[in-house]
Amino acid sequence: MTIAPTRVQRLVAGDQRSNRRWGSPLRAMAAAALMTVAVGYADAAPPTAIAVGDSSFKCLKDMVKVRHFYVDNLQGHREATRKVAAKGKGRYPTGSVIQLVPGEVMVKQPKGFNAATNDWEFFELDVSKEGSKIRKRGFADVVNRFGGNCFTCHVKARPEFDFVCENDHGCDPIPITRRMLAALQKTDPRCTKPDPLTDDDQHALKELDEVLKTMSAK
Ligand code: HEC
Repeated sequence: MTIAPTRVQRLVAGDQRSNRRWGSPLRAMAAAALMTVAVGYADAAPPTAIAVGDSSFKCLKDMVKVRHFYVDNLQGHREATRKVAAKGKGRYPTGSVIQLVPGEVMVKQPKGFNAATNDWEFFELDVSKEGSKIRKRGFADVVNRFGGNCFTCHVKARPEFDFVCENDHGCDPIPITRRMLAALQKTDPRCTKPDPLTDDDQHALKELDEVLKTMSAK
């Protein structure tokens, strides 16, 4: 007479089958844990940073001018960067460099590098005839000479503008006019052949001095 296996016997037999497959439940658990760790690690590993040093930066005039600011790409994709800037929205390609004034730069690190800043790294430079010296660099923590945090201002640009403020993308305005900016760009000391300053530029630079004095005082 054959006895139908009880529910418990069937379960035990099932366990034994799976034990054969995994060796032992403990080993199976260890394997699962290892897999989780491996997957978690792959997710957390940041992409390799683009190396950026003093020599990555150059005279504004040697970059490409789009409207009122300058762009370049540290990985040779200048045209791809220019296209996004010209279009005025969209994600900038990895390696993109953007400058409005000689001493402040945004560089696009690879995707996934820093979620908070959309992978932009902020730089403050000291510029002179000798070239550029990085004074500060980082992500959400870079504060310029006037006590302003780059990220706090630029994060206010609406998402389609990828942290680029211009003057109508949602960022708080700066007290520096486009006229002052244009004149300031011409004074980039890194340029060997700077454009001559017009009377209007000279006037704008005087006004800028006053604004900067007030900003520094604050
Ligand atoms: C008080 C807010 C504020 C702070 C602080 C600030 N920015 Fe900006 N930034 C702006 C605004 C507004 C513009 C656009 C000005 C315009 O187009 O007339 C701008 C323009 C720029 C541009 C040109 C592209 C664009 O967004 O229009 C770059 C590059 C830039 N800033 C980098 C920096 C870096 C780097 C820092 C920190 C070292 C910094 N900024 C700090 C508000 C700020």
